[in-house]
Amino acid sequence: PRDIDGDLTEILIEEEQIHGRLAELCRRIEADYAGKDLLLVGVLKGAVMVMADLARELKHPIAMDWMAVSSYGSGTQSSGVVRILKDLDTDLHGRNVLIVEDIIDSGLTLSWLIANLKSRQPESVEICALLRKPDAARVEIDVKYLGFDIPNQFVVGYGLDYAEKYRNLRSVAVLAPHIYS
Ligand code: PRP
Ligand code: MN
Ligand code: MG
Repeated sequence: PRDIDGDLTEILIEEEQIHGRLAELCRRIEADYAGKDLLLVGVLKGAVMVMADLARELKHPIAMDWMAVSSYGSGTQSSGVVRILKDLDTDLHGRNVLIVEDIIDSGLTLSWLIANLKSRQPESVEICALLRKPDAARVEIDVKYLGFDIPNQFVVGYGLDYAEKYRNLRSVAVLAPHIYS
């Protein structure tokens, strides 16, 4: 396969910036959850890189679980209709849940997920997202731990895909239009 860099127009956020920002968020998370149990819930598949780095940066013995949801169907436009493809293994009753996401685009996935998880009697539910596109928001999401606001461009890398590829790019980058048009 060809080299990944030729498919990109611009690196938006370098790997070092991501790690630096995640470390800052982790210090806040450690302070906020001091003496408490914490369950990180990653949303497959985009959140895998954020989850791996966030979890390893945290000094607490946290637990991790995963959900897989489908919101886009076959198209590229978010429908707001979310389907659970893989549910949690964990009973959320009494747990402090921190949802870990790579990006908030329209907000529709998280809006549905927050309501779904809150209905399972957890002690608390908060959000940690690496990226947010304010200009793409269709619903407001209250993100407690946010990495970066980014412009409404087609970005890939650090877990974010185009047609399931580019998730392995270490940085967050803008995909060249010739790839998707
Ligand atoms: C992407 C991304 C978020 C969601 C954000 O996931 O990882 O989970 O879309 O979009 P929204 O705010 O408009 O709902 P996707 O559905 O592409 O699945 P993936 O994580 O497996 O790539
Ligand atoms: Mn996702
Ligand atoms: Mg995707």
